[in-house]
Amino acid sequence: MNDLTTVVDSAVAAFAAVNTPADLENAKAQYLGKSGRITDMMKGMAALPVEEKKTRGAAINLAKQAIEAALNARRQALADAELQAQLQAEALDVTLPGRQRGQGGLHPVSLTLERIEAIFGSMGFEVAQGPEIESDWFNFTALNTPEDHPARSMHDTFYVEGGSEAAPNLLRTHTSPMQIRHAVQHVKKHRLAAEGSVTAGDFFSGAMPEIRVIAPGRTYRVDSDATHSPMFHQCEGLWVGEAISFKDLKFVFTDFCRTFFENKDLVLRFRPSFFPFTEPSAEIDIQFPSGPLAGRWLEVAGSGQVHPNVIRNMGLDPERYIGFAFGMGPDRLTMLRYGVNDLRLFFDGDIRFLSQFR
Ligand code: DAH
Repeated sequence: MNDLTTVVDSAVAAFAAVNTPADLENAKAQYLGKSGRITDMMKGMAALPVEEKKTRGAAINLAKQAIEAALNARRQALADAELQAQLQAEALDVTLPGRQRGQGGLHPVSLTLERIEAIFGSMGFEVAQGPEIESDWFNFTALNTPEDHPARSMHDTFYVEGGSEAAPNLLRTHTSPMQIRHAVQHVKKHRLAAEGSVTAGDFFSGAMPEIRVIAPGRTYRVDSDATHSPMFHQCEGLWVGEAISFKDLKFVFTDFCRTFFENKDLVLRFRPSFFPFTEPSAEIDIQFPSGPLAGRWLEVAGSGQVHPNVIRNMGLDPERYIGFAFGMGPDRLTMLRYGVNDLRLFFDGDIRFLSQFR
């Protein structure tokens, strides 16, 4: 019987040594397979006398059962281990916070534009939108900008296809063309109204209602560095009536800047300058009384009294109508408000920068 104990021990050891179901089945074949050791022993019984066959056969059967039991136990153990490994690998950590939908927000320059519109809206200004592909007439000629003005040069302006030689199309270099576009519409609308049935409120004592509008939007120039981008924003302002003076410009713009920067002690300076479409013209500088920018004059807008030639191109009589205009840079205002020192950050689309303004 000693040989049977040895075979059982050897099988149990062999089964314990394997680590995969396939190896286990190979090990099984060595004991229980067609030419396995137990099978051989069975065959070996043929030569034994009948009495011995009985006892030997029973002993071999017991050994076989022991091996089968060890085999099944090992099979189960391997299957359990495999399941455990799979559970571990595919473990779901239900304590992790769920994936949230990213929260968007307005671009910092859009926040500024909304703010500009709200402040001027509260002062009775309409908001007008105009085309970014503009004709040479609205962008330059109608704004009293002479043929030889450097702003018209190829180096400063993106000319685009579509216009004629005499009146080329271009990407507008400023929002000032909206002065003309809006005023012409305004004049046309009220002249038509005058011919039809005029309702009270359309006119102030039969005169043209004042033009009071801002026109924010994208503008383009061949310029690129930390404070210039080929695409940038401007916001035009225009107030034309029968008695609108430089005094009104100073009041309106000062009020705007103090509200925009939430600083009633902000100081403004109107510095004499030149623009073809205004006469006289002024550059507007602001100064913060305190904070990191205190004591420096910071230019925020160009402005002036609308030139008589421009008033005429609006379809109005310059002997009767007068007003002011300004053009400011919302990108610059955004940089000053939030302390951003590189304009390009606004247009790189880096979420780490933009998400700070949510
Ligand atoms: N369009 C001018 C520019 O881009 C800015 C400007 C100056 C606009 C004076 C005005 C103005 O309306 O009156 O530099």
